[in-house]
Amino acid sequence: MTTTEKAIDDYRICFEKIYPWVDYIVVNVSSPNTPGLRELQEKAFLTNLFRELHQLRSQYGTPKPILLKIAPDLTPEALKEIADTVRECGIEGLIATNTTISREGLVCDIKTLENIGAGGLSGAPVSQKSNEVITQLRQLLGPDYPIMGVGGIFTANDIKQKKASGANLYQVYTGFVYQGPGMVKQLLAGL
Ligand SMILES: Cc1cc2nc3c(=O)[nH]c(=O)nc-3n(C[C@H](O)[C@H](O)[C@H](O)COP(=O)(O)O)c2cc1C
Repeated sequence: MTTTEKAIDDYRICFEKIYPWVDYIVVNVSSPNTPGLRELQEKAFLTNLFRELHQLRSQYGTPKPILLKIAPDLTPEALKEIADTVRECGIEGLIATNTTISREGLVCDIKTLENIGAGGLSGAPVSQKSNEVITQLRQLLGPDYPIMGVGGIFTANDIKQKKASGANLYQVYTGFVYQGPGMVKQLLAGL
């Protein structure tokens, strides 16, 4: 496993490999499945990482946007720090949110949950948390900052809720797994 000290090297290697092929870059520091990864959401690390990525990016032509993807389990204080960091570092957008480590609101019993074990929950269980994070970010970052809403989008109505919370871009993962590529057409028709 990569140590925190060496994490920037991993991001640098991935950045250089994928940069020519993508429309935008996401720095994902929020997966609950990689031990220690979410500690990288701290300001000092992010500031160093973004400085490094901006330097790399300057070697290419027209700069492609860099976005930061965050967890739904951050405190309001941590969210404020992240909002300050992306502003100060000139990061083009935030993606809220990744999967949650919370088990709140689930109907199955504790024993079953314990047997399933640790890991991130996606889909419906993360929807409301994601919307709450988006609402807080929008308040912190003002009306125009790009916020990509993700977490529990299955229908056009879910997108409307993300929009009402403050998102102005949208991403789907679990919905896509269950509904397949036709989902996009249905979402657009519903909007
Ligand atoms: C199996 C699985 C793998 C994921 N892998 C990634 C990943 O590699 N990078 C990333 O940024 N997010 C990853 N995510 C998070 C999703 O992109 C998304 O943020 C989260 O699942 C909430 O959205 P959803 O409810 O539409 O799935 C993953 C989610 C799941 C369930």
